[in-house]
Amino acid sequence: MALRTLASLGSLAGKRVIVRADLNVPLRDGVITDDGRVRATLPTLNALIDQGARLIVASHLGRPYGAPDPKYSLEPVAQRLSELLGKPVAFARDTVGVSAHEAVASLQDGDVTVIENLRFNPGETSKDEGERRAFAQQLAELGDALVSDGFGVVHRKQASVYDLAELLPSAAGLLIETEVDVLDRLTENPERPYAVVLGGSKVSDKLGVIAHLLPRVDTILVGGGMMFTFLAAEGYPVGASLLEKDQIETVKGYIATAKERGVTLIFPVDAVVASSFSADADHVVAAADALEDTPYGSSGLGLDIGPETAKIFADAIRGSKTVFWNGPMGVFEMPAFASGTKTVAQALTEVDGLSVVGGGDSAAAVRQLGFSDDRFGHISTGGGASLEFLEGKKLPGLEVLGWSL
Ligand code: 3PG
Repeated sequence: MALRTLASLGSLAGKRVIVRADLNVPLRDGVITDDGRVRATLPTLNALIDQGARLIVASHLGRPYGAPDPKYSLEPVAQRLSELLGKPVAFARDTVGVSAHEAVASLQDGDVTVIENLRFNPGETSKDEGERRAFAQQLAELGDALVSDGFGVVHRKQASVYDLAELLPSAAGLLIETEVDVLDRLTENPERPYAVVLGGSKVSDKLGVIAHLLPRVDTILVGGGMMFTFLAAEGYPVGASLLEKDQIETVKGYIATAKERGVTLIFPVDAVVASSFSADADHVVAAADALEDTPYGSSGLGLDIGPETAKIFADAIRGSKTVFWNGPMGVFEMPAFASGTKTVAQALTEVDGLSVVGGGDSAAAVRQLGFSDDRFGHISTGGGASLEFLEGKKLPGLEVLGWSL
């Protein structure tokens, strides 16, 4: 079934429209370090402003666990949104209280207000349906319709994502529409060869996706922190590198299944090993089966894929027609360990076909390393959401908008 789109809501001129966005941006000392998610909401917001709707933008930021915490205030995000829209954006100091109601009451057609972090309210993320529903009711009082556009959060059954969409006339915004269109192409008939590049730190987060993708893809490339669990499964010592011991047996199972199915599973042949976890740590390149044969012995830490691996990965990526990449190859925030991620990003820009970067960390990595968004087929704003989509899981925030596999 198809998503309900903006057109299904009819004219929104003069209506109070709640836009559930994902403005969960990385902040350092109150300053936004990557505004990609704010930019991604602009097409929907501008389309609604052009119609003369009165916009109430709602989002979460971080995980404040149901209580106000100034560290997670959306105020800096509202300021950034105002700069990007080129017009004033009001900010309400609460989510459903006096400040939010006053801000909404003073909206004129085409005006925008951002309300405070949804997750300052325990009802937003509550597992208790009644509590969640009660909070959604309070949100519903602020608007006449809901445009759901926070793709990064559609895998969460939360008040503003799920319940509110049942309480108000609701439809998907342009960002969710685009994300679903592109990710659907990865699950339905992707052009082959199809390669998936997985990195990042937690193997357990990505195991589901590996299991689901094995029957569908031609090649899986494993880098980043998760590579050490694969190397350990092959029997190699990994020193003090990130290792999820309890996942070794599961990973062995994947390696065996990949062989049976003829899927090429590529993991590193070398890595950059450092003496400690710091930007100026001493480091050397070591072969994947000799990670402890360095001056740092068993206390050495693998912090990036090695140059030989980067070359093998880049060749496999460039030779594919469809590539999905989630998770940096190393600690890209530190220049000494950014090279693998940079090589992979560069190779994705050279794919003669569809290249998709998924997830907040990978999106932030490519921008931080100087690649502009338009060099990739698509940069998904969803991390967990894009992975769960590819796993074929039911996503509550999409189903409630009429979508099903
Ligand atoms: C994300 O960053 O992936 C989304 O904003 C969802 O955030 P969450 O994992 O805290 O629900």
